[in-house]
Amino acid sequence: MSLTQPPAGPHSSSPGVSVPKVTMPALTEMKRQGKPISALTAYDYSTARLVDEAGVDLILVGDSLAMVVLGQENTLAVTVDEMLHHTRAVSRAVHRALVVADMPFGSYHGAISDAVANAVRFVKEAGAEAVKIEGPRVELVRALVAAEIPVVGHLGLTPQSVHRMGGYRVQARTADAARELQADALALARAGAGAIVLEGVPREAAAAITAALPIPTIGIGAGPECDGQILVFHDLVNLSFAPPAKFVRRYADASGLFQSAIERYREDVEHRAFPSDAESYHLPSSEVRQAGATADSMTGDAGTEFDSEDAVVNRDAFEDWGR
Ligand code: KIV
Repeated sequence: MSLTQPPAGPHSSSPGVSVPKVTMPALTEMKRQGKPISALTAYDYSTARLVDEAGVDLILVGDSLAMVVLGQENTLAVTVDEMLHHTRAVSRAVHRALVVADMPFGSYHGAISDAVANAVRFVKEAGAEAVKIEGPRVELVRALVAAEIPVVGHLGLTPQSVHRMGGYRVQARTADAARELQADALALARAGAGAIVLEGVPREAAAAITAALPIPTIGIGAGPECDGQILVFHDLVNLSFAPPAKFVRRYADASGLFQSAIERYREDVEHRAFPSDAESYHLPSSEVRQAGATADSMTGDAGTEFDSEDAVVNRDAFEDWGR
């Protein structure tokens, strides 16, 4: 948050207009009506605001933040506390989209009671409205739903299984494997999952699963027949510093835009072209004389070196003068 732009209140972009909240049942209704579901990751307040205000239906605080925000090699090391920190920032920004928090590796792989306790933290401490878990964990989905926590499943290429899969590889590449994937998806739906992310699977397999399920599928690298699509925000705007996967479409070049802004700023600072006089605060002229006198008394010289514009402005005065 910049000092010059304090946080605006809820729905500030359209005062007086309240937008209906996207809920998990609303996503199922969208599937029923054949309305595509848009989903995107976000990890902080400013991007979550942009994504929400653009009308995206579901915002996932993905554990992909380990890679695109924290610079880690894969998603395995990110902790519950780190995920909670980012989920809180996103929840503060979002008024319409459904906020889903990714449960990180290790937080739901032991006893079901520990997994439920971790999931409760995402709802209670961070404002998540659903959690996402990877793999066909049917018992866990049942337990989470019994604890009133909506669940998004995640099947196919599950990045937390990177070591077991031997890399990030497209999954379900045979008819048998596709059938098994569909059975897993149906089992999750029957256990009460509200939606399922299908990642890195052949289009044909995803289409068949989508047709068979009563709940929405949200695809990433799973073809256009899924009920919705999700991408990683940093991939969408070219901020991920990696060659894009086949399924990524880049809608903007934020790297180029930011790089050029940062370079121009650095050059302006180096050439003393920033800040200008118009970007500086000024003492009222009545104070200039006094500041000059103060400088005289402090330095003991004639004040020739003292520029009244250099006078330190205290915090109260700063606020009195506006921003
Ligand atoms: O962590 C993540 O960003 C995800 C999406 C890519 C589905 O799981």
